[in-house]
Amino acid sequence: MQPAVINIFEKAAKKAGKILTRDFGEIENLQIESKSVGDFVTNADIKVERSILETLKYYYPNYTYITEESGKIEGDENVIIIDPIDGTSNFIHGIPHVGIVIAKMADGEITDGIIYNPILNEFFWSSKGKGSWCNDRRLRVSNRTNLTECLIGTGLPFGDRIYKNYLDEIDGILKATAGIRRLGAAGLDLAYVASGKLDGFWEKDLNLWDISSGILIVKEAGGRISRINGDDWSSNCRDVVATNTKIHEDLIKKLTLL
Ligand code: IPD
Ligand code: CA
Ligand code: CA
Repeated sequence: MQPAVINIFEKAAKKAGKILTRDFGEIENLQIESKSVGDFVTNADIKVERSILETLKYYYPNYTYITEESGKIEGDENVIIIDPIDGTSNFIHGIPHVGIVIAKMADGEITDGIIYNPILNEFFWSSKGKGSWCNDRRLRVSNRTNLTECLIGTGLPFGDRIYKNYLDEIDGILKATAGIRRLGAAGLDLAYVASGKLDGFWEKDLNLWDISSGILIVKEAGGRISRINGDDWSSNCRDVVATNTKIHEDLIKKLTLL
């Protein structure tokens, strides 16, 4: 059974998801304003976030909110993290790999999280100790043990996000695996690791709102999370590796020996 907090996140996400879906259908009419290369803020991002905040603040008026579009709203020690549209570039291009991400954090640990793709009607959720779910289906990471059979997700850097050895990383992983996917929404990409669709994922230069729920959803589906150098992940880290657990050491080795 879904805990109360997930019910409330679901209510907020499904209401806001209607706005997202409507705008997705009218994509060419959207006014697009460019924040920096590849980092677009659309009217939709702002409208969707406003709607989510309106619902959540009714139930949790005193919480602290960390949001992509409105910044930080100071409150008590309970923290809710929001990415109104993860995959904005996909959204702008009419590619239906987009998600609304809402997570709850206590003492730096993600305890509850949802990722909702309103276009495909996929509602991913997890609470600590309750497993991970997509709609009514329990999620489980893949069973693959050989990197050579594994499909690995990543986020390719672009513009001023380019870092020195990214081509070496791609080269090393392509040679060692069954291929790479750059799907374009880090949160959903993690949900795909939890679903066993991707066997692993890595990315640098992320924000907490991109991956907050995804971190928990991977762990609760039997996966493993760490930093790229193998250290424990914490909420102030900007890089992440997520796997089905079995290939974790091998993937880290490939990424760090470059
Ligand atoms: C982005 C997506 C993308 C990732 C970027 C994020 P946004 O979030 O998750 O996959 O590569 O690092 O910024 O801007 O679409 O919310
Ligand atoms: Ca994002
Ligand atoms: Ca976003």
